[in-house]
Amino acid sequence: MPATIIMGGQWGDEGKGKLTDALAARAKIVVRANGGSNAGHTVQTERGTFKMHLVPSGILYPDVDCIIGAGVVIDPAALVRELETLQGQGIDTSRLRISARAHVVLPYHAELDRAQESRLEEGKIGTTLRGIGPAYADKAYRHGLRIGELAEAVTARSRIRTLVEEKNQLLTTMYGCAPLDPETVADQLLAAAETLRPAICETEPLVYEALAANQELLVECAQGAMLDIDYGTYPYVTSSSPSAAGACQGAGVPPTQVARVIAVFKAYSTRVGGGPFPTELLDETGQLIRDRGREYGTTTGRPRRVGWFDVVSARHTIRLNGVTEIALTLVDVLDALPSIQVATGSETNSSTSSG
Ligand code: IMP
Repeated sequence: MPATIIMGGQWGDEGKGKLTDALAARAKIVVRANGGSNAGHTVQTERGTFKMHLVPSGILYPDVDCIIGAGVVIDPAALVRELETLQGQGIDTSRLRISARAHVVLPYHAELDRAQESRLEEGKIGTTLRGIGPAYADKAYRHGLRIGELAEAVTARSRIRTLVEEKNQLLTTMYGCAPLDPETVADQLLAAAETLRPAICETEPLVYEALAANQELLVECAQGAMLDIDYGTYPYVTSSSPSAAGACQGAGVPPTQVARVIAVFKAYSTRVGGGPFPTELLDETGQLIRDRGREYGTTTGRPRRVGWFDVVSARHTIRLNGVTEIALTLVDVLDALPSIQVATGSETNSSTSSG
């Protein structure tokens, strides 16, 4: 049975977790494809409220295997905390597997994220400050640490020491930050890796074996299409590709094996952080939607920017990602309004387009 991709159609927070949770009930495997602890899903079931940042929502089902794919960047300590919280809520997390190819978010990535954001006078990206951009930058620069490398403690310690010493130069001389202690960083990472070790493996064979056996496989993207590094509102984007193509790449799913691309859209729009937002509502209607939709970030608690649904950008996303189905969420949030608007066209100095 070919794969189904679930992706955000807007700027994230469209309710993908709820849909994944619903579809995961009959899946064999759920694979998370991109992003890191910048993402946050809240899933409510009769067993309680579960907040997840890195672990696929499928973990709530005892028969579903979950994979954190190669395209994800992982803060090992944050993942251990998340797993412990889930275990404390009675969830069996032993079915989680982590691609050895996934990259590690090191403490200096978060330091650099903070330092770079605070240097920007104008045009702040408004990142989640989780070190995501610097971690993907190091990966692209072939200077990253893959989680599989943590298995060999002696070699990993020496590698971490070198990396921290290098980044300390940058942190202290360019940003005026305090240096990090390489041994403390290594101790923390290796302790977390010890807990995660049973889950770290080559996940790609698990994916193609499931596909070959005709089993239902869901790929869960974090964030949303308008935050895509290539096709989003650059530079106000995240540093990965939360698109259908990015889902294949990050999860290790061959593009020819994808049957469905489900894009989740809210009946209105939200975005967190800086960047263009043509339909933004800065008035009491925006506040009403924010309050009724509980539009405050799962990861950072920041109030989300709110606006009307944008057909122009939705069409761009649908075309670019070969979307086969749409899930429209939070329609009831708009119940309190006598009328609503949607953007059906846009004008710039040089062009006009319609949705
Ligand atoms: P970063 O991914 O932390 O580097 O943040 C880059 C941009 O993506 C910022 O505007 C963030 O607010 C946004 N962002 C990252 N993750 C999420 C998410 O899960 N939901 C909504 N916005 C996100």
